[in-house]
Amino acid sequence: MTHRGGEARREPPPVESSRLVVLPDLAQAAASAGERLARRCALAVAGRGECAIALAGGDTPRALYARLASEPLRSRIPWRQVRVFWGDERGVPPQDPRSNFRMAQEALLSRVPIPDHRIHRMPAERADAEAAAEAYAALLREHLPAAADGWPQFDLVLLGLGEDAHTASLFPGAPVLREARRPVVAYQVPHLGMSRMTLTLPVLNHAAEVVFLVAGAQKAQALWAVLEGPRDPDRVPAQGIRPVAGTVVWIVDAAAASRLTRSSNG
Ligand code: 6PG
Repeated sequence: MTHRGGEARREPPPVESSRLVVLPDLAQAAASAGERLARRCALAVAGRGECAIALAGGDTPRALYARLASEPLRSRIPWRQVRVFWGDERGVPPQDPRSNFRMAQEALLSRVPIPDHRIHRMPAERADAEAAAEAYAALLREHLPAAADGWPQFDLVLLGLGEDAHTASLFPGAPVLREARRPVVAYQVPHLGMSRMTLTLPVLNHAAEVVFLVAGAQKAQALWAVLEGPRDPDRVPAQGIRPVAGTVVWIVDAAAASRLTRSSNG
């Protein structure tokens, strides 16, 4: 899928318009994120009969996925009308301990009544990376509503934050940060020595809601850099998340927020 070139792009709202919710610990931050996801899914299903979400990888979301798989959220979320995608995936098979799919499958998807055909794993291990990325983009085009400018629109995207301020698999200095036409890209990440597949900034920024879940003192510097440091999205990739029309909320624990001067406004 390519963006219909030539159309003027509205300047996204400043990052200062993002909402910040600071909770004492990861458990409470996960509960808050779970509540937001449940509300967004109810809104989407009421509006168009289904809800499309993109899951984050790494370790932090495990606490959220456990919440979503437990009562009361397990019963509140209309799993049979939810469609699950991933924001990014490592170039490993689905049974590999590093797989984002495997983590979500174990912590959440095997514990809720979501039909298998509504779970769309990112095939980042495929050798034909470009074709695999295009096939995933075709899935987005098939199952997500399209914005007026043609980009697929998620109802909610869950993201994490790396200590280097990367999000999804958008790493500092990576050419993919400047991708303006493809919604999904697969590429070799030099400093990791592995391939990744990732949603790109335009499709992330067309989501109705972006929820960052960040926890731990080791993220304090990165979180400050994103929210209060100089604007430099090439060096601080998560600054590139500026929804065109949707909302972005940072749900963080006190340890991750320890460097911030601004307080909660969520
Ligand atoms: C991945 C993730 C990545 C993650 C951050 C934070 O595949 O690693 O998608 O973007 O969200 O690296 O990871 P932790 O939550 O494990 O610190």
